[in-house]
Amino acid sequence: MALVFRSPQSAIDAAIRKLKADGVVHPDAAFNPSAPDGLRREIAYRDLDFVHRLGATAAEEETVDGALDLLAENGLLPGDASYDKGAYENHRRAVKESFSGRWTSMTPTMERLIYALTSVRRPARLLELGSFWGYTLAWFAGPCVGADRTYVAEKIYGIDIDADMVELARGNFAKLPNCEEVELIAEDARTALERIPGPFDFVYIEAKGDTRDDESEGLYLPLLKQVYDRLSDGAWVIAHDSIDWTFREEMANYLPYVRDRSRFRESVSFEIDYCGLELSIR
Ligand SMILES: C[S@@+](CC[C@H](N)C(=O)[O-])C[C@H]1O[C@@H](n2cnc3c(N)ncnc32)[C@H](O)[C@@H]1O
Repeated sequence: MALVFRSPQSAIDAAIRKLKADGVVHPDAAFNPSAPDGLRREIAYRDLDFVHRLGATAAEEETVDGALDLLAENGLLPGDASYDKGAYENHRRAVKESFSGRWTSMTPTMERLIYALTSVRRPARLLELGSFWGYTLAWFAGPCVGADRTYVAEKIYGIDIDADMVELARGNFAKLPNCEEVELIAEDARTALERIPGPFDFVYIEAKGDTRDDESEGLYLPLLKQVYDRLSDGAWVIAHDSIDWTFREEMANYLPYVRDRSRFRESVSFEIDYCGLELSIR
């Protein structure tokens, strides 16, 4: 079983206040932390109305600090691992002001968590599969791009099958300084990965279609299998949308694979918003 991190009480309280203010639940409703996932009007942890709000609260910083603490407590990070919060705020401002694109399901807390993970891991070679219009990559590669980067990576790949989205991503990254290591590739990740050399120290899997892929198992697991032998010792892999109900069929084969200790030393489910993030450590 994977480790599970859930948001602190302050974030839960804030999300419940929003649920009540939005009229979604009765003002007298109480949080039931032991309710089985999926329960409706009792505000269970996986209640969609609840987790939709959980990812955007004033407790964002505390939530991410707690997530890093959990990794440190389990020997997955040094005890003093932290990220530069000032650099993060500057980077967030730069991205919000300069990037343009379509929708995103990234929540503010998830953006900060992904940035913080790269910050504390400091990978030399980063790979995102399904980098869309560059917004998700902006957080993943955040500590090593832009005016406030905190370290220099060797290589940052972003691959997406949608050429229009990759063009948009190129335009977005062109507006940030210090992006020389970023290479955006417009191609099916499955063919691009046939020639891109490893090793990879940190891989971010986000590739999925609007409609179900021809393989019922989706793309996450096949892509992970394709890069597995190129993961460096101790490499990290993150998969977004790990607890998204609409994505559960694809995750049903991915999660058991990464939670098998013969393949990954540990896997952590960050259940901090309606999408969730699974971090697996080789
Ligand atoms: C919809 S995005 C994910 C959005 C993200 N959750 C967000 O909130 O910003 C998934 C991306 O995967 C890409 N994709 C789908 N199949 C792919 C493939 N075979 N290779 C590379 N990218 C792929 C899509 O083009 C799309 O840009």
